Amino acid sequence: MIELRDIVKSYQMGEATQTVLHGVSLDIYKNDLLAIMGASGSGKSTLMNIIGLLDRPNSGSYHLHGREVSTLQNVELAQLRNETIGFVFQQFFLLPRLTAEQNVGLPLTYRQMSQREIKPLVMAMLDRVGMADRAHHRPSELSGGQQQRVAIARALIGKPALILADEPTGALDTKTGDEVMELFLNLNRDENTTVVIITHDPDIAKQCRRCIHISDGNILNDGD
Ligand SMILES: Nc1ncnc2c1ncn2[C@@H]1O[C@H](COP(=O)(O)OP(=O)(O)O)[C@@H](O)[C@H]1O
Ligand SMILES: [Mg+2]
Repeated sequence: MIELRDIVKSYQMGEATQTVLHGVSLDIYKNDLLAIMGASGSGKSTLMNIIGLLDRPNSGSYHLHGREVSTLQNVELAQLRNETIGFVFQQFFLLPRLTAEQNVGLPLTYRQMSQREIKPLVMAMLDRVGMADRAHHRPSELSGGQQQRVAIARALIGKPALILADEPTGALDTKTGDEVMELFLNLNRDENTTVVIITHDPDIAKQCRRCIHISDGNILNDGD
């Protein structure tokens, strides 16, 4: 599904160039359940942003569903992202002024669907993550675990082939984190969704079928 070859990413800080990814090659397969581990600052989020088409590498090739994406225009990338990828972040990134229902519906709004079409899909998805009775709450009126469930519902609403989760349990207590992990495991098992989870937590990584470690911008061992 995803084929990364010799991906290099550098950041320019004034005069200095910091290379964050030193030629990363990685294959991710359909229905993979992959954990990415590594110390803080090792380049995990940078890699996820590239996989998620949120950022571009300086060099290297990236094929998504067989298509070279590094040469696509931003509008094409945005559309491909909307159709293919769901994101879940440690900080949830829900829009504070919108209700749970409105947050979950956003990706479909970008697809020009009508509110009439969107509403039943959103309510079904909120039900699935156990949040149907909180549809009209704003993020500030929800616990961390509840906000993450809403964020997962938003990630899933467009039926993406790939879920990218950057430390999704990092801000949650162990029990809530396990419940969130359960949602990812079910999704991977029942709908063949490819799931990539960045985590510090060995207990989370253990539940994934494959685990890779990143150190200073290099993949150490690929359990491929
Ligand atoms: N936008 C940016 N500009 C400059 N440096 C950045 C930027 N994003 C990340 N970095 C640097 O890249 C390195 C890797 O960051 P990151 O990928 O966020 O690591 P991780 O997610 O593994 O903690 C860090 O040293 C960080 O400071
Ligand atoms: Mg990070």
